[in-house]
Amino acid sequence: MNIAHQTAFDQAGDILRRATRVTALTGAGVSAESGVPTFRGSDGLWEGHRIEEVATPFAFRRDPSLVWKFYNQRRANLMTVQPNAGHFALVEMEIRHFPDDRFAVITQNVDGLHRAAGSQRVFEVHGNLRRTRCTKCHIVEHRGLEVLGDLPACPHCGGLLRPDIVWFHEMLPEDVWEAAAMATATCDAFLVIGTSAVVYPAAGLIEAAKRAGAQVIEINLVETDASETVDVGLYGKSGEILPELVKRLH
Ligand code: OAD
Repeated sequence: MNIAHQTAFDQAGDILRRATRVTALTGAGVSAESGVPTFRGSDGLWEGHRIEEVATPFAFRRDPSLVWKFYNQRRANLMTVQPNAGHFALVEMEIRHFPDDRFAVITQNVDGLHRAAGSQRVFEVHGNLRRTRCTKCHIVEHRGLEVLGDLPACPHCGGLLRPDIVWFHEMLPEDVWEAAAMATATCDAFLVIGTSAVVYPAAGLIEAAKRAGAQVIEINLVETDASETVDVGLYGKSGEILPELVKRLH
């Protein structure tokens, strides 16, 4: 580890040891080491697919089976995927170091891996691929990774189901978003992990945390749009950095 990296680790460790409440905002990068593809970048999901064709309500109205094929593929990928050391390090922070609702994970990920790892206070602001929502009766159901057809029907009313995730041009679920905003406004340390920080409103939480007085620590492979506003940046794999950071809390 070089000296600059060592110093950044020491600073991040100090921030966390002094903190009473910690909130982490995560993105696709935290699941990359589990084998879940990220969105942007050379082998990202948005390189192989056009957002307008698979990730908007207009796309779903135009061709629901094309959209479902895309998400069924992603659901199938999740069958072979397990949480990684980064997810587990966040569980340890919550349970051992910041219990009693003093730790929260706000995730943009729809893979459910934070909960699978054991995180308890998780706000999934972009929804979850393991749930469906009926476009007719609006019932939301946990379906896990059960195989669904390309035009799955609601077992209650026969309406067309959709994945219970947030698409571009859609609002975030209000209750989850309010809880996430509250966890951001009330923490002393805010971790930004594995997100390119370009998709709003989630990326706006970083500025909100700073405005509320939190110290912000970024963990990413590379610098991002958020790097200028953060207090400390740790650059490398989150599955390696997070366990190292947890060690500094003992
Ligand atoms: P992106 O694909 O935009 O960014 C992933 C980030 O993770 C990049 O900054 C990578 O450098 C970083 N990264 C990759 N591997 C990493 C690793 N092992 N350790 C640490 N960092 C790593 O994904 P998000 O920022 O999550 O929204 O994208 C935000 C939203 O855009 C998603 O929730 C999704 C997408 O369109 C919707 O679908 C609504």
